[in-house]
Amino acid sequence: MEKKLFDAFQWLHRHPELAMKEYQTTEYLRRILLDNGVRLLNTGLETGLIAVIGTGAAPAIALRADIDALPIQEQTCLPYASETPGVMHACGHDFHAACMLGAALLLKERETSLPGTVKVIFQPAEEINAGAAKMAATGLLDDVRLFFAGHTDPRFPAGTLGVRPGPVTASADRFSVCIKGKGCHAAHPELGIDPIPAMGAVISSFQTVVSRRVNPFDSAVVSITRAEAGNTWNVIPETARLEGTVRAMTEEVRAGIRHSLEQLAAITAKAYGCEAAFAYEQGPDPVCNDTGICDRAAAVARELGLNAEINPPSMIAEDFSRYLKLAPGALFRIGTGGGFDNHHPSFTADPAALLPAARFFAALAERELERLNNRDEA
Ligand code: NI
Repeated sequence: MEKKLFDAFQWLHRHPELAMKEYQTTEYLRRILLDNGVRLLNTGLETGLIAVIGTGAAPAIALRADIDALPIQEQTCLPYASETPGVMHACGHDFHAACMLGAALLLKERETSLPGTVKVIFQPAEEINAGAAKMAATGLLDDVRLFFAGHTDPRFPAGTLGVRPGPVTASADRFSVCIKGKGCHAAHPELGIDPIPAMGAVISSFQTVVSRRVNPFDSAVVSITRAEAGNTWNVIPETARLEGTVRAMTEEVRAGIRHSLEQLAAITAKAYGCEAAFAYEQGPDPVCNDTGICDRAAAVARELGLNAEINPPSMIAEDFSRYLKLAPGALFRIGTGGGFDNHHPSFTADPAALLPAARFFAALAERELERLNNRDEA
């Protein structure tokens, strides 16, 4: 099994595909699953798969892997480095896919004794926050009562599993502010309304949102990542534009920040005689791990000889949160060492972590099916 998973991981690493273009990846995984007698559901989607193992009846649990890569030129010296210029598995989704493939094959070996159904999701387009919603929209996951996923983590070595109860990843929203003044000759500012000082004041006011309005015991980020106005030296422009992101670990903090930004943009712009058009686009929700599940998962990990540690939370977002709208679950961190952060061109994931992680997810799924069965009968 170890060789099988290592081969799959290497193949996937060599053949990275961008979000919504995971055609070869899907075909590769489909072939291995079918060759091993694993059933596949008809998702109606061009990329991604849902494999089914077990009785086909309730209760059902899902394991989720994402399969897309990033537009990054690989700079590792791996013998199985990306063969596609400018595209790389720099977030370890190749590892996730190989790991859950392993879990599916391990569960398949024990299929006759499984007290329910395990759906293994190979999800496209995590990096653009589109795949989980597509998978959920198929309706094929409506019966799932628990969702589990893992994510590679260079902060831990192979053999360590990060298990953190409560919030683990943040929401990731995007905002923009268009400040409208009145353009004029730079020599006669009194004839116009300069949007640039207004933009400066809005930038300053936004810096006070996290420091002055958010409870110090809550975590949040407001980053302005783009500021644009004018295009030459002797013209006061008509408009100025800001763009940025908001990250929060709870819905309450997220909503509070959105309200504050909108209010500050409008009032501050007005104080300078300008008008502000504020736009806010919600991205993925925060992922909040179920506490009971985390306690039981840590126990399963330790039984299998893994080191279970509480991982720090992250302000990065994960569209795994979409599944948690359907049912509770948990996102674990899989120690994969390597020394380079996710999304870095030198990112690597230690394949020694593959089989232990696959065993963990298979055992956890089986254990949780038994627990749900006992609870349903009681
Ligand atoms: Ni990722």
